[in-house]
Amino acid sequence: MAALLIPTTESSPCPRLARQDVHVWSCDLSRHESARAALAALLSTDEQNRAARFAFERDRHRFILSHGLLRVILARYVAEEPGHIQFETGPHGKPAVRSRSDTAQPIEFSLSHSGEYAIVAVATGRAVGVDVEVCRPDVDSLKLAQRFFAPGEAHQIAQAQGDGQQRMFYRYWTAKEAYLKGRGVGLSLGLDRFEVLFDERLAQAQVRSTDSGAIDRDWLVQPLQVGDRVAGALAVEGEAWQVQMFDATTLFR
Ligand SMILES: CC(C)(COP(=O)(O)OP(=O)(O)OC[C@H]1O[C@@H](n2cnc3c(N)ncnc32)[C@H](O)[C@@H]1OP(=O)(O)O)[C@@H](O)C(=O)NCCC(=O)NCCS
Repeated sequence: MAALLIPTTESSPCPRLARQDVHVWSCDLSRHESARAALAALLSTDEQNRAARFAFERDRHRFILSHGLLRVILARYVAEEPGHIQFETGPHGKPAVRSRSDTAQPIEFSLSHSGEYAIVAVATGRAVGVDVEVCRPDVDSLKLAQRFFAPGEAHQIAQAQGDGQQRMFYRYWTAKEAYLKGRGVGLSLGLDRFEVLFDERLAQAQVRSTDSGAIDRDWLVQPLQVGDRVAGALAVEGEAWQVQMFDATTLFR
């Protein structure tokens, strides 16, 4: 992928994003390595400075790829050149596209990256949060869950057998992170202050406060199929929404 192949708003018309749609873009960063210089050129001075602060080249490159791809993806929705998009930050650090008065559709987005993977969720008129985690075999799932998660979640993980324990830990972890990121509160809301209620009969999970016992009726969480040994989750505000998955390599065809 050469510099000239970075899609512009003229060559790629905006995909229609209806109120009920949530678009999730999956990025295998290793497949975009050849576009790194072109993607780096799209970054703002602030993003370039952040990239320069990484001690390891591999982390710097992943930051450049994920933030460059984020710009290319968002440009398709806001009818803006990727390098011209401006971001602003919420009180707890949640980034948002700074709206322009002539923007066709106001959008909400969330970015997550882990190892070679990045995920971008995009919606209009409702907040979204995503999380992706490459599963590490050396993690002591149960110990972490008992220390940081709600007691009910740690109990579920303790009941799982063998590999299932680790799979369940990552399912909870990504769901909890996605919810926090959707709400934009970061870790100011402790991981043990709410519980994700998976129901095997339903695709989407509810979230319950461990303080009050009340279900948060404003949010639903859905696990995402990202890859082998890669867990993902999406949290979406409101009801009656549907997810469409896209592969970021299609941006460059
Ligand atoms: C920052 C945080 C929102 C997510 O961090 P994370 O899971 O490590 O990283 P992710 O890649 O999923 O998300 C990072 C992206 O979220 C976005 N983000 C940052 N702050 C955010 C906030 N308050 N709300 C929503 N999104 C936020 C940014 O786009 C950021 O990308 P950037 O750092 O490249 O600019 C926060 O929840 C955090 O620090 N979590 C720590 C995770 C942890 O230790 N969990 C323990 C489990 S046992």
